[in-house]
Amino acid sequence: MANYDVIIIGSGPGGYVCAIRCAQLGLKVACVEGRETLGGTCLNVGCIPSKALLHASHMLHEAEHNFAAMGLKGKTPSVDWKQMMAYKEDTIGQNTKGIEFLFKKNKIDWIKGWAAVPAAGQVKVGDEVHTAKNIIIASGSEPASLPGVEVDEKVVVTSTGALELGKVPKKMVVIGAGVIGLELGSVYSRLGSEVTVIEYLDAITPGMDGEIQKTFQRILKKQGLTFVMGAAVQKTDATKTKAKVTYKLRKDDSEHVLDADVVLLATGRKPYTDGLGLDALGIEMSPRGQINVGADWQTNVKGIYAIGDCIDGPMLAHKAEDEGMAVAEQVAGKHGHVNYGVIPGVIYTHPEVANVGETEQSLKDQGRAYKVGKFSFMGNGRAKANFAADGFVKILADKDTDRILGAHIIGPAAGDLIHEICVAMEFGASAEDLALTCHAHPTYSEAVREAALACGDGPIHS
Ligand code: NAI
Repeated sequence: MANYDVIIIGSGPGGYVCAIRCAQLGLKVACVEGRETLGGTCLNVGCIPSKALLHASHMLHEAEHNFAAMGLKGKTPSVDWKQMMAYKEDTIGQNTKGIEFLFKKNKIDWIKGWAAVPAAGQVKVGDEVHTAKNIIIASGSEPASLPGVEVDEKVVVTSTGALELGKVPKKMVVIGAGVIGLELGSVYSRLGSEVTVIEYLDAITPGMDGEIQKTFQRILKKQGLTFVMGAAVQKTDATKTKAKVTYKLRKDDSEHVLDADVVLLATGRKPYTDGLGLDALGIEMSPRGQINVGADWQTNVKGIYAIGDCIDGPMLAHKAEDEGMAVAEQVAGKHGHVNYGVIPGVIYTHPEVANVGETEQSLKDQGRAYKVGKFSFMGNGRAKANFAADGFVKILADKDTDRILGAHIIGPAAGDLIHEICVAMEFGASAEDLALTCHAHPTYSEAVREAALACGDGPIHS
């Protein structure tokens, strides 16, 4: 039993980053984690393994589609699924071990097991009760369920099962055209599966810029994904090796059935707070099961804080990380802050899709006058050379002040390019500030500059 300044529950990107920052600020820290490895959903069964599979399958796609045109001849690689899984596992291992190393380096105790909070200042793991001045809950999220769809993680899977299938399925049905559905749907489509995505709404990736949604769907269709839009999945009937997916079209209520070898349920995630004993503590929760917190991430019980997917806001690793650093500063008596207006979102398909700040729709809803600067990657020399000219950069700026309000990118390295705009927004930059900044040639980032130029006197290359 030890007396800590801070005990953090959960070692995902929210929890482990918070632990490291607390230690750097001189606090005595422990982090409770029940998984066998650190890193939470992101490192073990989320962001990191999916990126390994996205990378490998993209390489295959390049070999199949672009190598010959570049003068690279020879046998197209075939998929050695066992080796691809081993590569993915190795990637996970390197990352989770990396966190373990950082914990040791920063003298953070890893308390192994699942935590409960019997009272403020106490964390129970197994039979032991540890005490701490502050408790930070970073317990994350889990896949949301859908009535009529029973997940077995073999034939009917969530993202977790989809990352460790026994083989590449011939037919995959994806329920939900959100981030998970499109990333993992892309992986299996590139690896040879026939992928059909069933989406309840009339557009993919809800909440995104409308033009991006249309362009993105067109590109994915060209890559071989099939979409059934405006359709509500009713149920799945699975055997040990196959499943039938029944859905109803919203427009005429007609019922249809699709056969699949694997069904991926990707209709969202929900906060995970099971077993913590929050009810008994009287911690206030939202109707959606999120822990309610104040501006300093403190719950209604003094000394108990919460961050990441188990509170309100986008369920994104980097949002949790930012909250982790900020809450560490709060408990250390400093002034941690998160600017929720500048949190980028990225979909790691090919091309990538990235966004930050306002959309045209949100600006219209606010009645705010804005201008649009748009530039197609067709006018970007580097993108053309790399067979990556599909897509565009769109910058939204205030009509009167020219201040950048948001940006939406679909195209090569969009997930990296967006950060130039994030920094500009943090500094309150105008589109002209970006346009007047020299950008190296030839880079994809020139497309960002051209979109900024398009907010003023016009881009050069269109
Ligand atoms: P999501 O909320 O992004 O998308 C779910 C989709 O399912 C929506 O389009 C919704 O309209 C649709 N849907 C809901 N019920 C349906 C039904 N009965 N039939 C057909 N469609 C239905 O959720 P997703 O993709 O599961 O991701 C969960 C969370 O994980 C998100 O918050 C996401 O941001 C996060 N995530 C982020 C990643 C990234 O940043 N690259 C990668 C993976 C996940």
